[in-house]
Amino acid sequence: MHISIKERLDSIISNLDQLPSIPDVVGKVINMVNDPNVDFKSVAQEISRDQAITTNLLKLCNSAYFSKGKEITSLDRAIVTLGIKEVKDAIMVVATKAVLNRAILGYDLAKGMLWEHDLAVAVLAKNIAMMKKDRANADIAFTGGIIHDVGKTVLAIFVQNVFKDILARVESGGVSFQQAEREIMGYDHQEVGERILAKWKFPEVLKYIVRYHHEPEQAPKEARKIVSYVHVANSICLMAGIGIGSDGLYHELSERAITLLGVTDEELNQLYSDVPEVLKHVQGLS
Ligand SMILES: [Fe+2]
Ligand SMILES: [Fe+2]
Repeated sequence: MHISIKERLDSIISNLDQLPSIPDVVGKVINMVNDPNVDFKSVAQEISRDQAITTNLLKLCNSAYFSKGKEITSLDRAIVTLGIKEVKDAIMVVATKAVLNRAILGYDLAKGMLWEHDLAVAVLAKNIAMMKKDRANADIAFTGGIIHDVGKTVLAIFVQNVFKDILARVESGGVSFQQAEREIMGYDHQEVGERILAKWKFPEVLKYIVRYHHEPEQAPKEARKIVSYVHVANSICLMAGIGIGSDGLYHELSERAITLLGVTDEELNQLYSDVPEVLKHVQGLS
């Protein structure tokens, strides 16, 4: 292990100021929407405190992906027409763009590639949840999809220095890419991502998605299905070459996740052939 990298990461993680930030309103809204007794009026009020978010949100609510055909000119109208969960998903797109739409050097992702990958995983994860008739969790699959790789934004600069070592470890030792990250830097991009979400005060279920997206079978039982939506979507996007970067070829599709979700070979092929359609949506969102 490179002790100096581990120590540097320890200090970044314990000093929250050095982790990426998003507007405060997002954490509040996401927790409000998570509450089954949520009051729509107070959600609209909370969002409206952030003018920049509100303007961009209304624009996105009128995009082909979110729009239901009726023009949306106010937050109240957005919540009534699209539903509170869809509005929350749209806020996530608006609020995380500045963090995720950047070059991720060590992972070999030019500007825009991680963002495209994250949006594609989000759309596909939601499609998988809907395909499995789990409408109640579809919005969480989408949100989790957007942020699943957020840890890479912090690790990128360190990975750049030790990428050869990580790769050598993967190729010689039969360990997974994220295990090699842990062995060499003391952290993998999943754990760093989870720490970022803790700073953002996001709900547990989203932390589980980020923490276990490459190892869904390790997730707590109650979250395993939802983590698996993002895991399978991520694997399909990597197979399709979307945001593959330097590590994409070293991540494996978990058979246990496929079994847990009951995805048949036919469905898997269908999801794979839906990718061009997914990319069309991504263009409208990015
Ligand atoms: Fe990942
Ligand atoms: Fe990913």
